[in-house]
Amino acid sequence: MKPMGALPLEFAKQSGPLVLGGRTADDWAAHAGDTPLFVYDMAIVTARIARFRAAMPAIDLHYAIKANPHADLLAAIAPLVDGLDVASSGELEKAMTVKPAGSISFAGPGKRDDELAAAITAGATLNVESEGEAARAFAIGDRLGLTPRMAVRVNPDIELRGSGMRMGGRASPFGVDAVRAAALVRAIVAAGADWRGFHIYAGSQALDAGAIVETQAATIALAARLAEEAGVPPPLVNLGGGFGVPYFSGDVALEVERVGEALAEALGARPAILGETRFAIELGRWLVAEAGVYLTRVIDVKQSQGETFVVVDGGLNHQLAASGNFGTVVRRNYPLAVAARMGDAPTETVSVVGPLCTPLDRLGDKIALPPVEVGDLIAIFMAGAYGASASPTAFLGHPPASEIVTRL
Ligand SMILES: Cc1ncc(COP(=O)(O)O)c(C=O)c1O
Repeated sequence: MKPMGALPLEFAKQSGPLVLGGRTADDWAAHAGDTPLFVYDMAIVTARIARFRAAMPAIDLHYAIKANPHADLLAAIAPLVDGLDVASSGELEKAMTVKPAGSISFAGPGKRDDELAAAITAGATLNVESEGEAARAFAIGDRLGLTPRMAVRVNPDIELRGSGMRMGGRASPFGVDAVRAAALVRAIVAAGADWRGFHIYAGSQALDAGAIVETQAATIALAARLAEEAGVPPPLVNLGGGFGVPYFSGDVALEVERVGEALAEALGARPAILGETRFAIELGRWLVAEAGVYLTRVIDVKQSQGETFVVVDGGLNHQLAASGNFGTVVRRNYPLAVAARMGDAPTETVSVVGPLCTPLDRLGDKIALPPVEVGDLIAIFMAGAYGASASPTAFLGHPPASEIVTRL
């Protein structure tokens, strides 16, 4: 038997049928008309946002929509956050249906000319990733007769310790190296851009509050140093994010309150050049991962060479991350449950596999579950971020999963 991650708190204490957003998993499947489906419980998203606001000093909260760009979820989350961060013109379009462009920022290397033009036309902030990109943005702005709004994305000489995905402290396609950032700011300001400040993103999926505290303090110091070098105070410093969620056995949830206390202190003591600066944190998974449950129905239960395989109607084509093929090096089990028998004692060791013709399509590897029968719904938790939109949905031609956002 191999361990599973712990169920999110909102589900861990349930017994009997799994309930989310006030209805049972069976109800949601009937409502969707078919399985598999994702259900996103907005009450959980709202609770995370409230916890963030209570823990943090007065800073802005941005939602990185790559984590879950579902239209209904965006519409529900938009009024609760101060900004949206996007990474393509497709995401920009979606974001603009729910938030004014002035509160949208666009980061990502390899922005095409048409994407730069879309952002400049809309008035979204470009988090500029290179000198070349800045030059293209100015040329496009001139052609359109518009002043680009620009922040400089800095590749910090800081790494976020313990993060699942490091994006600083090394050579990187993301942002401009810190040693070159001040010169770029000076050039941007001299060229007449509407300079918005700095975007400094050091990594993702960190569970260690101490590491985040350290990185935020270093980020504030870096922003101050660069502002001094450039000779202009930044209107906004986006401190990045990186708040992780506990996917796997042994993971311990991030102590956001510790991060908030330390950030309040660091901002209270910030260098004078940042005196008038606003600060933002951009989060994806921490806001939405635990709110999502992927529900898939058991098609077959079969034995092979002494092992039991529970074959379900959904797999890595919808929920790649749970198969261990997105964002992890070593495959470990996400939390799973038999939706009709929450809290029941496990009686057997089974592997939960999807319908795809690849051994990679394994959603639970040798996990302990209560009795499972054909027709049962299996719930895979932690499915609210990097699920449907981060999975190879066209692979093998199965239909997409439905996605349902619960109403508050
Ligand atoms: C620039 C940027 N912002 C935000 C995010 C969202 O990260 P997470 O979902 O871990 O909060 C990422 C993740 O890749 C990112 O690269």
